[in-house]
Amino acid sequence: MICKNLSVNEKGHLTFAGQDTVELAKQYQTPLYLMDEERIRENCRTYIEAFKKYFNNSSYPIFASKANSFKRIYEIVNEEGMGCDVVSLGEMYTAIKAGLPLEKAFFHSNNKTDEDIEYAIQNSIGHFVVDNAEELYKINEIANKYKIRQKILLRITPGIDTHTYEAVNTGKVDSKFGSAIETGQAEEITKQALELENIILDGFHCHVGSQVFDSDTFIRSADIMIEFMSDMGKKYSFKPNILNLGGGYGVRYVESDPEINIDENIRQVSEKIKEICKKYSTEMPQVVMEPGRSIVADAGMTLYTVGTIKKIPEYKNYVSIDGGMTDNPRYALYKSPYTIYIANKMNEERDFECSLVGRCCESGDIIQENIMLPSSVERYDVAAVLTTGAYNYSMASNYNKIPKPPIVMLNKGKSYVAVKRESLEDLVKNDI
Ligand code: LLP
Repeated sequence: MICKNLSVNEKGHLTFAGQDTVELAKQYQTPLYLMDEERIRENCRTYIEAFKKYFNNSSYPIFASKANSFKRIYEIVNEEGMGCDVVSLGEMYTAIKAGLPLEKAFFHSNNKTDEDIEYAIQNSIGHFVVDNAEELYKINEIANKYKIRQKILLRITPGIDTHTYEAVNTGKVDSKFGSAIETGQAEEITKQALELENIILDGFHCHVGSQVFDSDTFIRSADIMIEFMSDMGKKYSFKPNILNLGGGYGVRYVESDPEINIDENIRQVSEKIKEICKKYSTEMPQVVMEPGRSIVADAGMTLYTVGTIKKIPEYKNYVSIDGGMTDNPRYALYKSPYTIYIANKMNEERDFECSLVGRCCESGDIIQENIMLPSSVERYDVAAVLTTGAYNYSMASNYNKIPKPPIVMLNKGKSYVAVKRESLEDLVKNDI
């Protein structure tokens, strides 16, 4: 099994966080997002403890809440002592509603509206991660209106290609995010930030990609960033405090994905950062990392009920489910791999090649192609898609007027609803 919170019980049913998924599907109906609360907490602790062990005391991880944003998640990471990053007014609002103080948040986005900036300042955002000069001047202007000096980091593109999938490869010079060192724009915006009265330039940020498995990527970007920070510090006589290295490590969607020891990787990154700081004769900065996927992905699973089975002899077999790209658009968008089981037939041989498809009116509505399921797969079976805790609910839509599934949390043998199933009434509540 790809994660230790999965098993098979004596009935041949898939269990998740020790609970029978077939029973959960019956109790809560499908489609259904499940989240293993203990696993979220363990994942938070892995980062927190590694940071404590290997970095100086002021370094810390925060949760990239775009991976999964609902009130209970913010409560859990807050209870674990973590802050978060936010990318929109909606994420800020949800965090505040959950009692996570925005002082502990970093506000990203390549296009923050005036309304976003004002809301963040009114709610005492900890740091803006400033993408561009236009935004920098706007923040300065609004901070001046509120008579405050706003802490910021500058987002820099170090010019690194992570070779992950294109949609999440963000460290290259031609990225829509940040200011590039290579073009001189990173230095230019640093100079501008230092001249502004209502801005405190507290450090720099880079994020080179997502679903990254090796520390080499983080080390290469740390090297470029620390050299840049050291240059800027010397040239403009200031001390950048924070180096934020962006998102966390990749996760295992399928057996062939590597197993990654996050603690050991963070140890290696910290050792290298110490060496790099020596090389540029600069003090060790506070290091921040923003894991999203690796905090929540393997704490999630989606359950569906199987419907139509279509066999096209000599061509292809389809197994349809009662959800699809509306609750998980990741195959449609990125061809992302997933491990899929028929939860009530775990002990049967998997000898039937098929594609698992959704119910939307679109042939791209596919959860996974060419997978093996038991040939007895039939209507009313329960299909389980593993590792769906990241970028599924947060990317869900109401295409074809399909209501979003609920999120049910599993904890110590109990379950509870954290987000209710959308009703038909919810689907028209804003229609006049
Ligand atoms: N920090 C920044 C600035 C980011 O842009 C991201 C992810 C993260 C942190 C978190 O990275 P993680 O630890 O999750 O790798 N929708 C895509 C993923 C988009 C990632 C966007 N940025 C997917 O479903 O794969």
